[in-house]
Amino acid sequence: MEGFRITGGEKLRGCVRVDSAKNAVLPILAAALLPEGDTVIKDCPDILDVRAMAGILGKLGCVCEMENGVMRIQNSGLTHWEMPDALSKQIRSSIFLLGPILGRLRRATVAYPGGCEIGLRPIDLHLKGLRSLGVQISEEGGVIQCDGRNMRSGAVYFDYPSVGATENVMMAAALLPGVTTIHHAAREPEIEDLQGFINAMGGKVCGAGTPVVTIEGVEKLRGTVYTPIPDRIAAGTLLCAGAITGGEVELTNVRPGDMIPVMDKLREMGCRVREDENRLTLWAPSRLKAFSQLQTQPHPGFPTDMQSQMMALCCVAEGSSVIVENVFENRLNQVADFCRMGADIRVNGRTVVVKGVEKLRGLEVTARDLRGGAALVLAGLAAQGETFVDHIALVDRGYARLEHTLSALGANIERIA
Ligand code: UD1
Repeated sequence: MEGFRITGGEKLRGCVRVDSAKNAVLPILAAALLPEGDTVIKDCPDILDVRAMAGILGKLGCVCEMENGVMRIQNSGLTHWEMPDALSKQIRSSIFLLGPILGRLRRATVAYPGGCEIGLRPIDLHLKGLRSLGVQISEEGGVIQCDGRNMRSGAVYFDYPSVGATENVMMAAALLPGVTTIHHAAREPEIEDLQGFINAMGGKVCGAGTPVVTIEGVEKLRGTVYTPIPDRIAAGTLLCAGAITGGEVELTNVRPGDMIPVMDKLREMGCRVREDENRLTLWAPSRLKAFSQLQTQPHPGFPTDMQSQMMALCCVAEGSSVIVENVFENRLNQVADFCRMGADIRVNGRTVVVKGVEKLRGLEVTARDLRGGAALVLAGLAAQGETFVDHIALVDRGYARLEHTLSALGANIERIA
């Protein structure tokens, strides 16, 4: 198992460029099944989830080639509607291949998806959305069979604004005759990016970023060249790395407008954050201050994908911070390791009270999910002595060579095989 060895105490300084967003690229790769013709994704991050998704597309008959950050997808060989078990269990985003496969082939089979261990992560809303479009679904022995021969456009209402379910329906409806409307849709920037991608292929989607998304089905989509939006979570994680080390960090290729809740909390903790058009600069105080409360919510609320990293900051901030995790019921995997490092944390259900301590101490800890793993790296950057973060394949799912990026900012971190 690979790990990161980190010697804490270096103040991070410097400027790095942020990659494209994992959560934008994954649905875009799925939507690359829809057009007739090749798709080229520029600035495609080389992360494990992207490789796994490319592997699944390959098994479905596509050819995916990645070179110098450019992914080319040829889907002319798309004939299989059955997604391979082992791969779809690896990443949760395999579930939203159902939409585009149904859109193209009118049949789809998938095993129950995998992904991070951060809760029950049911897929009822995905299935509800597809059923609203006339798909007949049967579930047996962990396998979901979808028959879309009688698919038609229609109205979908989501009881909760699920990101993946919204994307799934957008892709399933892109080639369906008539108009499909999604009510109570997720509003994340990555949904807007998927709309941008479908429209770049000749689709007619509008409303992404609002609670009502409308998809007017077109007869055909054509291949295109597309650059996904920057990763607001990777950017947030790097700002946190600057903040927890009392450093000064500049990021390029960011969209500050996507990061308002994160910047707000960092400012509340005493950081100065300057926003330019596609650049962010953070100056951290020598000691962070606690914030009064942080509640994770669907966008535009505070993103659950930044909760663990903010908790790392609270561990060493002056005063007590309250965090409420509303989105996933089991996303506090890193708490036990933070406590072993000397943090003072109380958990009551979804509510966490973190009383900041002056210093954490480095030791051996284990990544248990993607963002929790990144949070342990942050804790290691600020801890006294050496921290070893094990199981970093989970971190590699969403960060491309995180140790290189952090080293470029002056961190003392290396990958140990
Ligand atoms: C996406 C992101 C993930 C992020 C999450 C919330 C990708 C690839 N992943 O995941 O990084 O943490 O949004 O911002 O984009 N739910 C149901 N039934 C469903 C679907 C979801 O109850 O059918 C629940 C989930 O259990 C969870 C909540 O809805 O409690 C949010 O999930 P959802 O928005 O669907 O997240 P994902 O699309 O899985």
